[in-house]
Amino acid sequence: MPAGGARPPEVVPEQELRRRVGELSARIDEDYAEVDELVLVGVLKGAFIFLSDLARRLSVPTVVDFVALSSYEGTEAGELRLEMDLREEVRDRHVLVVEDIVDTGATLRRLRELLASREPASLAACVLVRKQGSPPRDEAGVDYLGFEIPDVWAVGYGLDYDERYRGLPYVGRLTEV
Ligand code: IMP
Ligand code: MG
Repeated sequence: MPAGGARPPEVVPEQELRRRVGELSARIDEDYAEVDELVLVGVLKGAFIFLSDLARRLSVPTVVDFVALSSYEGTEAGELRLEMDLREEVRDRHVLVVEDIVDTGATLRRLRELLASREPASLAACVLVRKQGSPPRDEAGVDYLGFEIPDVWAVGYGLDYDERYRGLPYVGRLTEV
């Protein structure tokens, strides 16, 4: 392996991701069988790979859009800044947020509040991984969940540490900085 550090140990292997994305997309297709369009709102950057895999497995017609958020660490309120807003109007449309990970849950909760204020026809969230010790799914606003993982720093499949590792084809855990 070229210089650049050890390969992060696997937390969710590639074939598990593929299998689970298939299951999630089947459930989403069932739940949205009656709608003629679903707006997928990917949260940049971490959700880009999960969203692209999910979108390719869904049968319900989708529109893809993105938001970019940043949170100020260390502030108790977990202030969230909208770095890039949607291009789509979501009023009266069915919206599914696609997020990489729920840790404290603040990001998803605040994003849901923001989108709800725009009065979509429906609003739900699909999250790839939830860390152990995070708020329960209903509290965090997670309707579809890929995996529960231990409380580690997860990298790969879109997730980064300091912008590294996003391209790993599996979810791993950071062991060294
Ligand atoms: P929150 O604490 O649930 O608000 O998560 C905030 C954001 O931090 C998530 O959307 C991720 O982008 C990022 N994040 C939290 N935990 C991890 C991790 O283990 N690996 C990579 N990014 C993470
Ligand atoms: Mg994120």
